[in-house]
Amino acid sequence: MSNGQPANIVVVDDEQYICNIIIEALSSETHNVVSFCEPAQALEHIENNPVDLVLTDLVMGEFTGMQILETTLAAHKDGIVILMTAHPTVQTAISVLKKGAYDFLVKPFKLDILKAAIERGLAHQRIIRDVVNLQGQVEFLKVANASVVEENMTSFLKLVVESCKKELLAQAVSVTELDPDTREVITEVCDCEREEDLEVLATESGRVAFADRECKPVIRREQIEQDGQPSTKVFISQPIVIHGKLHGVIDVLIVRRFDEVTRGQLDVLTILSSSAASTIANRRLYRELQRSYLEAIRGLANAIEARDEYTAGHTDRVCRLADLIARELGWNENRLNNLVMGCTLHDIGKIGVPDSILNKPGPLTDDERSKMQKHPEVGLRIISEFELCRPAIPYIMAHHEWFDGNGYPGGLVGEDIPIEGRLLAVADTFDAIMSDRPYRKGRSFMTAVSELVTYKGTQFDPQLVDTFLEVIKQGKINFKDMYGHDEDISQLEQVLATEMAPG
Ligand SMILES: [Fe+2]
Repeated sequence: MSNGQPANIVVVDDEQYICNIIIEALSSETHNVVSFCEPAQALEHIENNPVDLVLTDLVMGEFTGMQILETTLAAHKDGIVILMTAHPTVQTAISVLKKGAYDFLVKPFKLDILKAAIERGLAHQRIIRDVVNLQGQVEFLKVANASVVEENMTSFLKLVVESCKKELLAQAVSVTELDPDTREVITEVCDCEREEDLEVLATESGRVAFADRECKPVIRREQIEQDGQPSTKVFISQPIVIHGKLHGVIDVLIVRRFDEVTRGQLDVLTILSSSAASTIANRRLYRELQRSYLEAIRGLANAIEARDEYTAGHTDRVCRLADLIARELGWNENRLNNLVMGCTLHDIGKIGVPDSILNKPGPLTDDERSKMQKHPEVGLRIISEFELCRPAIPYIMAHHEWFDGNGYPGGLVGEDIPIEGRLLAVADTFDAIMSDRPYRKGRSFMTAVSELVTYKGTQFDPQLVDTFLEVIKQGKINFKDMYGHDEDISQLEQVLATEMAPG
């Protein structure tokens, strides 16, 4: 029985007139009832057809109701079995209930009592099916709530897929986030037991069907043969809708010997799509807010660059270099987004440094240097006002710390320096050496590399310098685009060998 449909009931009794009476008694109900006087035929029917409830005699010649009970529960894990006997003993009653029978009726019984037992059994079954699914949902919601909007969308969609697969006992699940205007796929996560199901999910997906009509769940059923057994293939497409617009689809492929997608399982899918919809909506809102903040603050950063034409483009290049290092380290989408923010804003505090110091064409005096070195703290004060820009703080505060503790403003040592600052220090210094400065022309690529290698372990985190050199060796930096000329990276190994040579 599923979704309020009639229940499939099997009656087994070796006395034909008992079968007839029960069939007659249940004829006014909407259930599908079949009866068997031959227990062997009943067993075969139960093994090969959808069955919700079995009503069986306990003693039938060489067969017993216990065999019917065991076969039913083996083929239908939440099947309801009610045993009937004219020769009851307390011991028999205890024994059948222990083996998983739902109820035990003593013949002769009134038909009202029989009907009540059947309805009670079916109601119990509905509750069990719904509770099992909703328990799974509680677990999902706990995990989903813990993964806040800052987490990337792929991890969240993976959770949705896992939950669908578990709760619907699905063979394949895919969750797709779509652009509501163009219907282009933004993110897609699949989990299939068989590779060929990937294609089935893609071609059968409701995202095609939803294009021309209302966004309502679609369920399709098909009779197939799988592993030599007749089975039902159920394909469900559940739309993810925000303000009446399609933002994604959950596609589920279930293959069962019997079609047993329950109302509770469909409820689970509705809860999952609502959860996905609110997460997608929240995330978009969060991203838009963050983008607006970033644009406003970037305006300030540009204002600083505009004060000094020699540093034009520095922020953009540092972002690109730092991004390449972070990707080499395997940072996720969320950390990469924060890195762009941090690199953009890292020198925001220079807004508090007078032009005469910022643009001085020569070495700074102690007093001037001290003012210049205040820029991380000034930056911190500015950014602390903007909640959404907080991920930029470790970049702002730690990009002038030295690995050996001789940096500023905290004098932090080694891994006590946030990795964001250690990473940015490498990218920032490399670009500063390569770029023209107020008091000198930009220096060569090899000079910049040598400086990083020379200060490995003092100014810079040695591992991050190595990672950066690896990025260069792999040819991932577009020097022509960033600095206006190509660099011959084939000399790199030779220069490194010289740098590393003892003495
Ligand atoms: Fe700085």
